[in-house]
Amino acid sequence: MALIEIRDLKKSFDGDFVLNGVNLDIEAGEVITLIGESGSGKSVLLKMIIGLMPPDSGSIKFDGQEVTDLSEADWVPVRRRIGMLFQEGALFDSMTVADNVAYGLREQRKVPEPEIRQRVSRALEAVSLPGIEQRHPKELSGGMQKRVALARAVAMEPEVVIYDEPTEGLDPINVTRVDRLILGLRDRLGITSIIATHNMRSTFRISDRIAFLHEGRVAICGTPQEVEAWGDPSIANFVERAHMRLPSENSVPPPPA
Ligand SMILES: Nc1ncnc2c1ncn2[C@@H]1O[C@H](COP(=O)(O)OP(=O)(O)OP(=O)(O)O)[C@@H](O)[C@H]1O
Ligand SMILES: [Mg+2]
Repeated sequence: MALIEIRDLKKSFDGDFVLNGVNLDIEAGEVITLIGESGSGKSVLLKMIIGLMPPDSGSIKFDGQEVTDLSEADWVPVRRRIGMLFQEGALFDSMTVADNVAYGLREQRKVPEPEIRQRVSRALEAVSLPGIEQRHPKELSGGMQKRVALARAVAMEPEVVIYDEPTEGLDPINVTRVDRLILGLRDRLGITSIIATHNMRSTFRISDRIAFLHEGRVAICGTPQEVEAWGDPSIANFVERAHMRLPSENSVPPPPA
């Protein structure tokens, strides 16, 4: 059984179907990346997986449990197992960086305060922003805010982390750092990662599987090698029009000195 099973998922806005029968199995411990044109429904699909937007029809099972019809109260324990990095970042401006990163941990009321502070520091180090605990989001660059939001998503060490555009607006060195962070979470803790991105280089480097969203469905899903070898015109067009080249190497380079 897959950790997350998505069956015939549909969602329309004003009569136009954004998702029109999405089927996808997400295995525990894998890094799976959703790619597809802007507006193809990647963010909508991610929000449905975490219960922030209801589908019109279809099914999502998380660890065997149907979640599309859960009440808000029943979502609480499920959502604890999932961390999310929103495309918009969504930090609280009035809080320090430390309070932002600690937010989910404090809500859980399970972890004692000294350990929260340790975990916050560790999460900030993991995104290469050590020592900025007392600063405020407004004082940081867009790329730094993105990495703080990433630290917040991983600080709880949830079973699943959903990343909506984790590397958007980051310079190449920080893109590599985020790639390594995602792979490290998989290899160290077995965390499942679900990513939506336009960064093809990262996608082909770090994904165990890639799912191509096209015309409301998962048109292609497979390993990077399988997707590259597919030769399907829809995905070839997508990659070409995005002015992106598929990298031939499939490894993450060593961290910058
Ligand atoms: N709350 C909403 N109300 C109405 N339409 C919406 C809503 N959310 C998303 N849409 C529409 O659904 C479609 C898919 O949006 P979505 O944000 O999932 O695209 P995306 O694949 O994430 O794009 P991008 O790559 O630009 O982030 C778009 O046409 C968008 O306008
Ligand atoms: Mg999006």
